[in-house]
Amino acid sequence: MSISKSIPVSFQLNGVRRSVDAAPDTRLSDILRDGFDLTASKVGCGIGRCGACTVLMNGRAVNGCLVMAWQIEGAEIISPEGLDIIPFAQILKDSLSEENAFQCGYCAPGFTMALTALFLDNPNATQPDILAALEGNICRCTGYHSIMRGAQRAAHRLRAAKAVADLGDHLP
Ligand code: FES
Ligand code: FES
Repeated sequence: MSISKSIPVSFQLNGVRRSVDAAPDTRLSDILRDGFDLTASKVGCGIGRCGACTVLMNGRAVNGCLVMAWQIEGAEIISPEGLDIIPFAQILKDSLSEENAFQCGYCAPGFTMALTALFLDNPNATQPDILAALEGNICRCTGYHSIMRGAQRAAHRLRAAKAVADLGDHLP
């Protein structure tokens, strides 16, 4: 709990302009869960080790438990509930689902957001890129193989979709 004085904070949340009054050191994960009832991202460790709280901030994956209220002024935040704003979200979700990527599902939102940030940055992501992007996310159930299969399936589809789009750009 914070004893700091609240400050007004305005930011974009899942495509909608939002404002809250919060102590500067309030965690983004708490703002999402307590302030907006957005509970898809989880708080596991609370110290930046597990990735369960991963959300997008200005297109990059961040740990919601390490981002403080004062840092989100003017930022664009996307939580797992807003994932469909991202054009390829369905491809990613379908790919993970088809490979039965998750078991209990606790880690799923964090992995999904981390992969979203990766594919936003690099639509041609390779297996080493995927491994690097997921190094901050922990899963206690799967042994990671199914998650990697799902991620690679998504990467394959996104590469194919990009190739078709690039081809279209070169057609008369
Ligand atoms: S709860 Fe944020 S990294 Fe674990
Ligand atoms: S599926 Fe249970 S923690 Fe990952």
